[in-house]
Amino acid sequence: MRDDVMLRVEGLNKVFDSGNRKVEALSDVSLEIRKSEFVMIVGPSGCGKTTLINIIGGLERATSGSVLLDGRQVSGPGADRGMVFQGYSLFPWLTVQKNVEFGLKMKKLPAAERRDIAAKYIELVGLKGFESALPKQLSGGMKQRVAIARTLANEPEILLMDEPFGALDAQTRVVMQELLADISRRTNTTILFITHDIDEAVLLGDRIYVMSRRPGRIREILTVELPEPRNHHCLVMAEFQQIKSHIMEMLWQESSDAAMDK
Ligand SMILES: Nc1ncnc2c1ncn2[C@@H]1O[C@H](COP(=O)(O)OP(=O)(O)OP(=O)(O)O)[C@@H](O)[C@H]1O
Ligand SMILES: [Mg+2]
Repeated sequence: MRDDVMLRVEGLNKVFDSGNRKVEALSDVSLEIRKSEFVMIVGPSGCGKTTLINIIGGLERATSGSVLLDGRQVSGPGADRGMVFQGYSLFPWLTVQKNVEFGLKMKKLPAAERRDIAAKYIELVGLKGFESALPKQLSGGMKQRVAIARTLANEPEILLMDEPFGALDAQTRVVMQELLADISRRTNTTILFITHDIDEAVLLGDRIYVMSRRPGRIREILTVELPEPRNHHCLVMAEFQQIKSHIMEMLWQESSDAAMDK
């Protein structure tokens, strides 16, 4: 096994037990993410993707199996994992600047240092000039830029993203995908990104884990070799289409098998 693995998930199982009803969400899920890698997880709705990322983020406990970050067992939330969700989760009463500085303030960084770090990440996400705006004055894409800047400002070892662009319109989505591809390349951030959008998975991923329907298992691991930079031009390339149709085929099989089970 390569020794530059940053995040190692081993044999994860999750059963939700709500008294009279048991839901098996994940079954024997293992995955590895190397430093600076951009890894996507794609799978049908309800297959356990959010459960998986919540366990990695320490927000949820696995029934069995382990999550290791740099060889250390994950047992709860931590600043080493920065999470970005579909909802923007900004503080509505704080300006862009204060939202981005929030985690730094918690860490008791001096004001001048906080300002410098926040300015760097606000610029990185293309929001220079909007420092004093409130979230309600921003579009959905801009709010998600703030959320990304705020998470990156805490300098986590890995970024965990659960359908972060799911609420955005199609054009804004592509703009945000290109922005994230660019940030990942420029900052070498390690990213685990969950989506059910196959285009998004192929456009962004160095590797893609395809999950089965619930209970979620890893069905296949694909490596994507598209030219850099990853941007909307990639969407029409033959390699892109080939991987996309392969994943579509797999997911169709999953849903038709599910229909047969009914
Ligand atoms: N807290 C909970 N208690 C009981 N069951 C739960 C809980 N959270 C999730 N589940 C169940 O676990 C399964 C997986 O849910 P999860 O949200 O992880 O799926 P998902 O792949 O993220 O779906 P989507 O693509 O719709 O976001 C579902 O059947 C869901 O109902
Ligand atoms: Mg989900």
